[in-house]
Amino acid sequence: MSDRPSGLKVLHVAAEVYPLVKTGGLADVVAALPPAQAQAGAEVRLLLPGLPAILDAVQGARLVVDIGACFGALRVRLLLGRMPGSQLPVYVIDAPHLYRRGGGPYQAGDGLEWPDNLQRFALLGWVAAHLAADDADPAWVPDVVHAHDWHAALACAYIADHLPTQAASVFTVHNLAFQGLFPHHDWALMGLSSRFMSPSGIEFHGQLSFMKAGLKFADKVTTVSPSYAAEIATQEFGCGLDGVVRSRAGDVVGILNGIDEAVWSPAADAAIAARYDRDRLAGKRACRHALQGQMGLARDDEAMIVAVVSRLTAQKGLDLVLAALPTLVRAGVQFAVQGTGEPALETAFRMAEQAHPGRVAVYIGYDETRAHQLVAGADVIAVPSRFEPCGLTQLYGLRYGTLPLVRRVGGLADTVCEGPSERQTGFVFDAATPAALEAAVMRALALRRDGEGWRAVMLRGMAQDLSWAGPARAYLGLYVEARWSRQTAPRHGLG
Ligand code: ADP
Ligand code: GLC
Repeated sequence: MSDRPSGLKVLHVAAEVYPLVKTGGLADVVAALPPAQAQAGAEVRLLLPGLPAILDAVQGARLVVDIGACFGALRVRLLLGRMPGSQLPVYVIDAPHLYRRGGGPYQAGDGLEWPDNLQRFALLGWVAAHLAADDADPAWVPDVVHAHDWHAALACAYIADHLPTQAASVFTVHNLAFQGLFPHHDWALMGLSSRFMSPSGIEFHGQLSFMKAGLKFADKVTTVSPSYAAEIATQEFGCGLDGVVRSRAGDVVGILNGIDEAVWSPAADAAIAARYDRDRLAGKRACRHALQGQMGLARDDEAMIVAVVSRLTAQKGLDLVLAALPTLVRAGVQFAVQGTGEPALETAFRMAEQAHPGRVAVYIGYDETRAHQLVAGADVIAVPSRFEPCGLTQLYGLRYGTLPLVRRVGGLADTVCEGPSERQTGFVFDAATPAALEAAVMRALALRRDGEGWRAVMLRGMAQDLSWAGPARAYLGLYVEARWSRQTAPRHGLG
């Protein structure tokens, strides 16, 4: 057991990890934070569900323990291997009945939630708690269990449910809007003490809430930006859980995400047409031409290319882009949009492409390589979200000299500055209206006419340290505090 950050044994528990399974930024974080902590001297492992893409990719897997039948699965085994191409140890839960199937990690191909998600993600939390209690792998017992989002949140309740463990739990909210709610009558499937089945436990308006388990029972709660940490304590952003967040006030911390510079760096990016950096910007021009060619945008050197790379959901505020688009196209903007999600938004973007050939190009789909090409080739990356816990694409924009244009909310507000010109890194607007977005794009167009001014903003963004080194250290410091809280005021209690 260590109380120095550098010696800590840390178990990250999550449902997705780049590049194996990814539905959003969570996967990027789970791929990059653990190696950064290992670099800082911690002993870090991952725990993941045995989804086909994970089980098939993990290297050198060996059996740790045969768990037998549980959570409705006939055969559950815990394996230990390494993440592909790295030394990072990863535990994988092999439970074919629950995890070995097509479709996505949370939903079937038809977009409906898997009907057994309660069992699928309760098992994930339960195994984490048993690793912490030293009966799953006595050879390696974590000091800290770090659970990510609702999928892993139940680990915090199982640990609080009197499991004999010294391990502290830390819960990170990546997005409070996805809560993991299940019918009350499925309570018995979870195997938690009945005292947890109350409003002071994990009951939430007559349902079971995995998210609430993390918020209430983790020794420390974090979220992915300081602004979002403050926002989720308000009714406007709290998704009904703001009261629970406020009740943990002193224990809720916002730590900004970093980016994986091995994956996102224009100087070494194999996916883009030409490499570039602050001192050699010519490559960015080549990326611009390649993007225009690839997406069918007119080869117009005057046009300002605004990119969107996003899930197409209400969260992301892309209806504002759609509404402002005709005016902005007339003003000389080209749009390069890549996304997938709600059918109505997909259709609306396709129609915009048809209405503005050569000026609006849309790729409906999920494609990592193309995402790099968009980020590198555009002038501006727009992230007009209604709420945004952190947001990674604006950080990728900063790194690639593609000026972020964002709404002043959550992590976007914390990472992009349009204040005094000597600090400007992008464009920021307040109201969630097409007019406010439009005005911000007009400011971008005006700055672009001032070549030197634009270049200064671009170089400032590219010079920022966006690596995981700082956030990784911040989490390690927090783990020491979490262990202290666990020893002095353990959270078995309800209320
Ligand atoms: P969120 O997790 O809410 O979707 P983030 O900005 O944190 O938002 O992370 C989104 C991640 O998903 C980024 O790595 C982004 O590049 C990626 N992404 C989103 N949509 C697509 C897409 N259609 N194709 C490729 N990558 C995408
Ligand atoms: C969530 C949030 C996003 C954040 C990501 C990684 O998906 O929506 O803002 O960047 O998690 O923390």
